[in-house]
Order: sequence, then C-alpha cells, then structure tokens
Amino acid sequence: MLEDRIRRPDLRNRVVDAATAAAHIKDGMTVGMSGFTRAGEAKAVPLALAERALRDPLSITLITGASLGNDLDQTLAKAHVLARRMPFQSDPGLRKAINAGEVMFIDQHLSETVELLRTRQIPPVDVAVVEAVAITESGGIVPTTSVGNSASFAILAEKVIIEINTSQSAMLEGLHDIYIPSHRPSRMPIPVVSPESRVGLPYIDIPAEKIAAIVLSDKQDSSSTVLPPDEETRAISEHLTEFFLGEIARGRLTNQLLPLQAGIGTIANAVLHGFIDTPFHDLKMYSEVLQDSTFDLMDAGKLVFASGSSITLSAEKSRDIFPRIGDYKSRLILRPQEVSNHPEVVRRLGIIAINTALEFDIYGNINSTHVNGTHMMNGIGGSGDFARNGYMSIFVTKSLAKGGAISSVVPMVAHVDHTEHDVDVVVTECGLADLRGLAPRERAQKIIANCVHPTYRDVLADYHDRALTRGGQTPHVLEEAFSWHVAARDHGDMRRAFTTEI
Ligand code: COA
Repeated sequence: MLEDRIRRPDLRNRVVDAATAAAHIKDGMTVGMSGFTRAGEAKAVPLALAERALRDPLSITLITGASLGNDLDQTLAKAHVLARRMPFQSDPGLRKAINAGEVMFIDQHLSETVELLRTRQIPPVDVAVVEAVAITESGGIVPTTSVGNSASFAILAEKVIIEINTSQSAMLEGLHDIYIPSHRPSRMPIPVVSPESRVGLPYIDIPAEKIAAIVLSDKQDSSSTVLPPDEETRAISEHLTEFFLGEIARGRLTNQLLPLQAGIGTIANAVLHGFIDTPFHDLKMYSEVLQDSTFDLMDAGKLVFASGSSITLSAEKSRDIFPRIGDYKSRLILRPQEVSNHPEVVRRLGIIAINTALEFDIYGNINSTHVNGTHMMNGIGGSGDFARNGYMSIFVTKSLAKGGAISSVVPMVAHVDHTEHDVDVVVTECGLADLRGLAPRERAQKIIANCVHPTYRDVLADYHDRALTRGGQTPHVLEEAFSWHVAARDHGDMRRAFTTEI
C-alpha cells in the first residue's frame, strides 16, 4: 500500500505522525494549505496544530485555495490558531470569529492570491501542507479532489508537508493539469484554448529536498451541504432556460451555449441541474467548483466536458461518483485556481458566468458577501473573476430570504461586490431582468417589474419614483436608501421599514 502511494523509495523514511510534522509550523508563520470548497484539504496536520495550540499557543496566517471541510476552520479558530485567514471560508464558527474581529479575514478574488505571493506583495509562505493521492516515482505530488493553490504553495514554500490520504481514490491520478504561469512582464499567454486543453503536468513538480515530512491520513472529505432543487430554484432555472432559448433564436448562441461557470451553493447547483430538461446539448463547463449538477448533466448526456479546480459533492453523490471517478477522467480536468479563474482565459473562452447574490439593488449592483452590509457570510470567492470577465455575467437569488423578512432586491446594496458594470442579467424565481445595454433608470424599471417579490414590489417602485424626482444618473433617496437594512438589523425584518403590521 505505502509502496503504491509513495512510489519514490527514498521518501518513505520521511513518514512521521501529524504532531511531528506540525512541529515544522511555528508561531507567526504563514502557512499555505490545500483545500478548496471543502475538497482535498490537508486534514491531519491542521488538527494536530489545533491540539498543540491548546497547550502551547501559536497563531499563524493561514492561506488556502478556498473553504475547508471537516470543521477545520472552526477548530483552528476555536484554538486561536488563526491570526489571519485568506482568501475564502464558509465555516459558521470561523464566520463568527471573523465578525467578532478575532480573525483578520482577507476576502479575495481567488485567481489573485498566488500572484501576490509569487511577487512577494504579501509575506511569503513558510510551510505548505498539501493533501495528495500519491507521490510519483520522480517525486511528483498528485493532489486529491482539489488543486486550488496547492501547486504554488508547494513551489513557493521553504518546506512542504505532504498528507497522503488513503481514503482518496487512487483513480484521481491523471485528472489534474498543473500549469504555473511564468513570471511577468515576459509571461507567455496561458495556452488553454478550450475547457479540455491539457497544458501542464498531472502532478506538482518540486525538488524532493523540500519535502520535510509525509503524514498518512484516511479522513474523508466533508460532503457538500447543497440542498436539492425546490420550486423557487426550478423557476429560476426555467427563466434562464427561456432566456437562453431566446438568445439562440436570435442567433447569438447555439444549443451548445458557451462554456459555463456556476458558483458555489444550493441555488447555482439547482439552476444547472435544471438544464437536464432542456434542448441544450454538448455543453462544457469552465468553472472552479464542480458540484453534483456537473455529474448529473454528464450522466444525462448533456455535458461533454468539465474543467474546474475542485470536486465537491453531496454525501449521496460522493458514494455514487468516487468509486467510478475513473470513468469520468477523459471528461474532467482539475487545474490550479489561478488558471481555472484566470481573467484572460475567462474572457477569451467566453464564459457564461452564473453566480449567486445575497442581494442586489434596483440598479443591479450585487452583494454576495455581507449580510446587512457588515457581517461576512463566506467571501467573494471566484465570482468576481468570472463576473467581470465572462461573455455574460448572470446573478441568481431567491427574491426572499428568512421566510420573507428579507427582500433580496433592495433600494441600495449595503456592500458591493460586483458593480452594475459587471452584471448583465439578474434572475429570481419571480422573473429575469436582461440589463444589457440599459441605463440605470431603465435597469431599475426592469428589475422592479421582473425580479421583486410582490410583498416588496410596490414599495420599491414607489422608492424609485420618488428617487427620480431628485434627479441624477442613478437616482436615490439617500436618507432612505439603507432603511430596509436598518429595519433588518433592528427588527430582523425589512418590512418594518414601511409597515408596523408585522
Ligand atoms: N440577507 C441575509 N441572509 C441571506 C440573504 C440576505 N439577503 N440571502 C440569503 N441569505 C441566507 C439564507 O437565508 C441562507 O441562510 P441559512 O444558511 O441560515 O439558511 C444562506 O444565506 C445561504 O443562502 P441560500 O439561499 O441557501 O443560497 P446558497 O447556498 O446558494 O448560497 C451565497 C448563497 C450567496 C451565500 C453563496 O452563493 C456565496 O457565498 N456566494 C459568494 C461566493 C461565490 O459566489 N462564489 C462563486 C464562485 S464559487
């Protein structure tokens, strides 16, 4: 078994227990760990670190690809290991610590982190901890269910710790395509010309001397928490399908559409799932996280290829897919996130980007991250990499949250992640607003008419009418613009901004 997983014999004597490996990580260090949307994270070393911190306090800057599973962020936050954390998280416990100001969270476009590290614009990675399926005969590190930033962490760090996870299928080998962009300003274009382009190596290539320790683990990835499609997400998917059919009828798209990107979470997953019952065919994805819907679309014969940076599945889908992941290998690629999310590649391939908003405003500005403008939910993730650069930027959300107490369409978003300039289409279960080529006053009319829940629609129309009397390119009643958020903060209900009958 060990011989299969560590195929270079001279590395086998570097196997140690997790606590011994974790001892390479010292107080104040910057640590780069594998892990992207709860997939392929190092599992044993961070736990050993948290255990040590309870006896012998230490705090570090932790950089990952994206979110971690197995409650690791929560465990590390509770043990006060995290002084700084970037570039994404989705853990309720860490979220609490961030919003309490205990952990400094740097919420960052996912394509950018390693560019900053590589050019030493932020402090360098001292130790990289990377989960692997195997180490090859030549010492190459084969990642597991995500690539994320792992390759660059290993290349840039002084020391590398490898976690060989024997619960991860050996069939994952061959899935990865590790391409590292060269230094600027003489960098050559990334030669990805379609989602199926293979342009790198199937493993991370680093000098074996840098491998300070190897740890064996068998803990599985956490399952994704996406919920199955419901009536509202089905309606959102139907609105989008109708919209794409219109684009096809006008000759702007074909039934193959263009490569699709879909964001994390229940809603984007459900929207893609809805494409099973459409005339679209031979679809391709150029995305970052591949969720259940990717495999549903493949099994339905709709999707012919998917490129991403991680595979994050529900428990049921994991049991179905991973034992036969080998069957999908010719139709899947996992890349470093700076390639899967690269602005230039995303623009050139013409990606249709579908991401989820927490809320958007009457002009189409999007808030994906901050509840009530102040409290971090997860982070911007890759949504900005795709929304700013794709062929078309679509944002989806349910029109209501928290049982109707919150409207997802508001007068003015209290935090902006994606400005109106980067948003082409917004969709709720109520309808779709195609904002392309419209001025702000026209955008507002369309959004209010098509996307707002009836509970809030007339009030929002009235707000806009009164704003128009004040004039401006983007009219607002400034003293009222955040009144819905103030009501949500004070009463947990936006309706209290305009009625006491709640
Ligand atoms: N105000 C407050 N809370 C809101 C809200 C709003 N306007 N809109 C939604 N929520 C809450 C929901 O009630 C739900 O809370 P719960 O977990 O307590 O039930 C939570 O946000 C998640 O919403 P849900 O409707 O289940 O959607 P989702 O799972 O699709 O997630 C985002 C939505 C926005 C949180 C998620 O997509 C995200 O973090 N996006 C930013 C990152 C990103 O887009 N990455 C894309 C590239 S991977």
